[in-house]
Amino acid sequence: MAKKSRIKSMPFLVKGFSGKKFLSGELPVRGAKNFALKAQAASILFGGDVVLRNMPLIEDVFKMNDLLSSLGVAVDRIGNRSFRFKSPRNLETNLNTDAAKLFRASIVLTGPILAREGRVSFSHPGGCVIGKRPIDVFLDAFQKMGAKARSFKKSYLLEADKLHGADIFLKLPSVTATETLMMTAVLVKGVTILRNCACEPEIVSLAEFLNSFGADIKGAGTHTIVVKGGRLLKNGFFKIPPDRIEAGSFAVVAALCGKNLRIKNCDPSQMMAVLRALEDAGVNIEFDKDALLIKTPRVLKPVDIKTREYPGFATDLQAPFSVLLTQAAGRSLLFETVFENRLGYLSDLNRMGANILVCDPHRAVINGPTKLRGRDMESPDLRAGLAFLTAAMVAEGDSVINNIYNIDRGYEKVEERLNAVGAEIKRI
Ligand code: EPZ
Repeated sequence: MAKKSRIKSMPFLVKGFSGKKFLSGELPVRGAKNFALKAQAASILFGGDVVLRNMPLIEDVFKMNDLLSSLGVAVDRIGNRSFRFKSPRNLETNLNTDAAKLFRASIVLTGPILAREGRVSFSHPGGCVIGKRPIDVFLDAFQKMGAKARSFKKSYLLEADKLHGADIFLKLPSVTATETLMMTAVLVKGVTILRNCACEPEIVSLAEFLNSFGADIKGAGTHTIVVKGGRLLKNGFFKIPPDRIEAGSFAVVAALCGKNLRIKNCDPSQMMAVLRALEDAGVNIEFDKDALLIKTPRVLKPVDIKTREYPGFATDLQAPFSVLLTQAAGRSLLFETVFENRLGYLSDLNRMGANILVCDPHRAVINGPTKLRGRDMESPDLRAGLAFLTAAMVAEGDSVINNIYNIDRGYEKVEERLNAVGAEIKRI
């Protein structure tokens, strides 16, 4: 049974500030969740110790640690934000545990286990509220590398005496498929070419991490990645870079509630799409090397948003940004191109007083500005959860947000950091 969450996930009671600007001070950004999870998984590509620093202390990181432990990896916390990983000679090859089922990111372990042990079994990663999350891109690629795939009612079994290099065109620029196959290819003898890859910064960081300890990966960050592989890496260590999605979420919070808010430990060069959208809405942004100072105009302008693969507007920032669009004076068009079911939360914003017309599973029209009223809400996924937290701070009156386990999955103690700059959020 998956360990229960370590963080008490009681509901949040959030004070609404009726549209006033009240946040001021410094808001620190933590290490990138969507890199940390892959770096943890990458530890099974090494024969020796791997140390990861500046890890975000979030539920998903602890879940990945549990998963790795269940495979036989020794996981030790050696500092507040540092963990050491040491794989056994032979890894457990069964990812059918409850922990893996609830956890889409567990998919990145499949290829490396298959390459190391010649087999892996895993349950079909459950869909979630944002979409059915198929894995056809993964299965197609593993078969091209020589694996035999058998699917059972609830799980898959992949077997391969020896995987071989291949030239693989990904049907979709899937982020975790790109990462999984890049990691798998590190252990596969020969040359693997991956085409139509995702270009997210986390993929570049993963290649940088692996290359600094003996891997030979070229092209990460472009649509074509070439890997020359065939042996375990020795030892490694890496510092997790800042979370561009958390930083982007905080930039939106600052635009709505910031009096004089500085977001620090971030990398603005990875946030250009959302910062550009904020500037189009009339927000004034001062850049430092690793910080942003956000100044809000009296009136926000409407902005049309279309989510795209990186470097386009990140789908993970669609929900937080929609809250800002409810406060913009005019009509904004929202077009979610990446997931087929990631607009569900908009009906909750309407129940708070927003004026949003959902046209189809991908598109909505948001009219503003509208006064939001606090209410009881249920966080459906971590990014919509952050959006509800933002809307609750903008609203008139208090709100209760339930199921904040979702928020704790991706934002480390977010209420402590927001309260430190003027918010009033309590776990009740
Ligand atoms: C990663 O998910 C992120 N998760 C997501 O962040 C992020 O929203 C997403 O990339 C897009 O940027 C992690 O890195 C752990 P995809 P991933 O495969 O890799 C379809 C968050 O909030 N697809 O790029 O699972 C898929 O259904 C999370 O931190 C297939 O059809 O996303 C989706 O519509 C949410 N077949 C599209 O591709 C496949 O085999 C893009 O998904 C794989 C994906």
